[in-house]
Amino acid sequence: MIEAAIVGGTGYTGVELIRLLSAHPNVNIKWLTSRSEAGKPVTSIFPSLRGFTDLVYSDLGDDTTDALSQCDVVFFATPHGVAMTQAPKLVAAGVKVIDLAADFRLQSLQAFESWYQHKHACPELLKQAVYGLPEINRDAIKKAAVIGNPGCYPTTAILGLKPLITAQNALGSALVERRIIIDAKSGVSGAGRQAKLDLNYAETTDNFKAYGLAGHRHLPEIEQGIQAILASQIAHRIRFVPHLVPMVRGMFTTIHLGLTDEGVEQDLHSLYVTAYQNEPFIDVMPKGEYPDTRSVRASNRLRIAVYQDNSRHEATVLVVQDNLVKGAAGQAVQCMNVMFGFEETLGLNHVPIVP
Ligand SMILES: NC(=O)c1ccc[n+]([C@@H]2O[C@H](COP(=O)([O-])OP(=O)(O)OC[C@H]3O[C@@H](n4cnc5c(N)ncnc54)[C@H](OP(=O)(O)O)[C@@H]3O)[C@@H](O)[C@H]2O)c1
Repeated sequence: MIEAAIVGGTGYTGVELIRLLSAHPNVNIKWLTSRSEAGKPVTSIFPSLRGFTDLVYSDLGDDTTDALSQCDVVFFATPHGVAMTQAPKLVAAGVKVIDLAADFRLQSLQAFESWYQHKHACPELLKQAVYGLPEINRDAIKKAAVIGNPGCYPTTAILGLKPLITAQNALGSALVERRIIIDAKSGVSGAGRQAKLDLNYAETTDNFKAYGLAGHRHLPEIEQGIQAILASQIAHRIRFVPHLVPMVRGMFTTIHLGLTDEGVEQDLHSLYVTAYQNEPFIDVMPKGEYPDTRSVRASNRLRIAVYQDNSRHEATVLVVQDNLVKGAAGQAVQCMNVMFGFEETLGLNHVPIVP
């Protein structure tokens, strides 16, 4: 049994971590922090957890690092800029750190500081941090002290392209054109739980809008995933446009690809099936079947479909996930399982909720 802490236990990813970890057979949640709800039982804010936990929120204040050092692993479900202030002391104390924000995702210090407009507090630790995508970085995650848990959109984009980029590298030739268009849609919980005018019910219900066209912070993370982590030999140009859709949970990412003559000769669906056949959380759908967000709701599953039209030299990859589970808290727990040598699926094998 390991001891865990969750910093930021009142947000949407925080409560998702409580849901997953309170049912995990090898984890005890020792600390759950909130500055705004300190002293209140978690069940008074989230009655869904009644009967599963009697945790009370703590504001650890000046004692934060000392208290968190009593744990084996600390999850930061906080805005960017929080984990980096405490991670060096925690790592020095032998505590594993999993940050659900962006402090340890971008390997380039310069890219982090320019996209997030925030000076990094521990550039040395950033160099050691591992990007927490087990389907790509499993061996590195096993030995990592600090995990930068991936962003929700990058998880769909990088895993949606991985079999293709890997095949291109192996064949030494392009299967798809340089330009890749990633058209992605997220449910409103992707923006967190705090009140904001543009996230009001009346603003988001019966509405559908694009945002971040001039540059979303997940773009450099997607580019890093393809060029640095998957080591693409082709310098792909990514066009990424996120949208907000009127649903609570769920993410649907459509990847548009132009096929080269070599690409037309490949059966892309078979490439994906083979690449993911041993991945417990990735489901490649049969040819001719396409996913919907409901089919992964509240589960750590990421579902992919591949459509190929050789007459038009094009292909489309469709990827769905629950943004709060495989896109955040579930992925963090999957990383924790890998780091502590637990069965990777432990505490994560939920059947998605339908309807
Ligand atoms: N929502 C998603 O789908 C999603 C997916 C992937 C990654 N993420 C990332 O995960 C992180 C958390 O997202 P979220 O949606 O759960 O956010 P959220 O709903 O806004 O919750 C933020 C939490 O952080 C705490 N907090 C805020 N500032 C803090 C500080 N300075 N020190 C300590 N605690 C602080 C808040 O509690 P108190 O104010 O009470 O302390 C709250 O519990 C973000 O970095 C987000 O980008 C979110």
